[in-house]
Amino acid sequence: MESAQNRPQARPLAAARPSRPLGGEIRVPGDKSISHRALMFGALSLGETRIAGLLEGEDVLRTAAAMQALGASVERDGDEWRVTGRGIGGLVAPDDVLDMGNSGTAARLLCGVLASHDIFSVMTGDASLRGRPMRRVIEPLSACGAVFTARVGGRLPLAIQGARDALPLSYRLPVASAQVKSAILLAGLNARGVTEVEEPEATRDHSENMLRHFGAEVTVSAHGKTRHIALRGQPELRGADVLVPGDPSSAAFPIVAGLLVPGSSLVLNSVGLNPLRTGLLDSLREMGAKLTIRNPSVQSGEPIGDIVVEYTALAAIDVPPERAPSMIDEYPILAIACALANGTSRLRGLAELRVKESDRLAATAAMLRAGGVRVEIEGDDLIIHGAAQQPGGGVVETHMDHRLAMSALIFGQVTANPMTIDDSRFIDTSFPGFVALMQSLGARITAPNRRPAMIG
Ligand code: S3P
Repeated sequence: MESAQNRPQARPLAAARPSRPLGGEIRVPGDKSISHRALMFGALSLGETRIAGLLEGEDVLRTAAAMQALGASVERDGDEWRVTGRGIGGLVAPDDVLDMGNSGTAARLLCGVLASHDIFSVMTGDASLRGRPMRRVIEPLSACGAVFTARVGGRLPLAIQGARDALPLSYRLPVASAQVKSAILLAGLNARGVTEVEEPEATRDHSENMLRHFGAEVTVSAHGKTRHIALRGQPELRGADVLVPGDPSSAAFPIVAGLLVPGSSLVLNSVGLNPLRTGLLDSLREMGAKLTIRNPSVQSGEPIGDIVVEYTALAAIDVPPERAPSMIDEYPILAIACALANGTSRLRGLAELRVKESDRLAATAAMLRAGGVRVEIEGDDLIIHGAAQQPGGGVVETHMDHRLAMSALIFGQVTANPMTIDDSRFIDTSFPGFVALMQSLGARITAPNRRPAMIG
């Protein structure tokens, strides 16, 4: 994997304790998952889709560019984005490689779209994405008749010849992954008959909600923990208006900062509160966090609300493995909360973290160690020995992973000595404006005095 050493343009940052509590009322950028899906469903619909609050992060802009390369019209119109779609089965072959940058969601969901279009395409990504497993979508999608040719180990770059007459799939997910589920459903849009997905544990259901919003027939039934999703193929999707809520995974950073910096009080407006995304809020509440929801409502089929955060001295937590799908992207920032909580926390069942933008399990442990925290990895569990004071003073290698970079900058707000990160550029993939927004709340984030000595 690329390291910061061979990226001379890397942008290090330092974070230090602010002199005052954090305070203010903010809005975090739009939800990344919903933004990708709004662009894709818009491109697969007939007529116009207007999207308000789209996340203009690099990951989502890759999806916008890919949809354009596949023949849809995608343009910014004032504060909104307008997509004029080509209808199901109507996408055209791109005349160049589709580069999905750092985004696993964009790459995997697009594999689903391309699998049931009779066109040839080639997909690649940055060094992080080229290292991530694609077999989890290639294998099930091949059964619809698409032919995928991947680099060794099922990695990008990937050549895709979509099926001429795609067969509907019936698939039980071996891992809890909303990306894999969504890829199968997207392929099923252009297959005759009913596509079925069974998930052993519920994962985020934005695809199901949005499919309905665009006019598809989707049924969901639950049998214990298992969910069964059925989609009737070849519906006529109609362009729709989508209002994208604030991303709860982005809200996680100011929320934890507000809980940890003594005396802080924050309000985050219009954050998505889909119950399949709120595992972090549940965990923080179990740790004693003072979090209140105000003005709950439903917007484009998704629950939203304002979150009020007040500083609280937190207690350690034992997080069960079944909570992982509802907070899969929030473990690095939860780990920071645990490092400052009283007692030993155990975060269980984190195998999936090993295949995120980085090996997030190892990288989260390394981040904590760089700040002087005692941590262990036991199997797939992360054990963190928390204390009200942590020394800090270290350099964190972020491995092209936006969520590690942001977590480490929040960590530096509460450690005795500043924390430094080797590269902040990847923050823009999901949270453009993160540093300025945190500074507006009173956080101390600056360019480091000198370039950090690189580790490894
Ligand atoms: C996402 C699903 C999650 C998550 C990712 C976004 C989605 O991945 O980590 O950031 O939009 O479907 P998995 O479902 O593969 O765990």
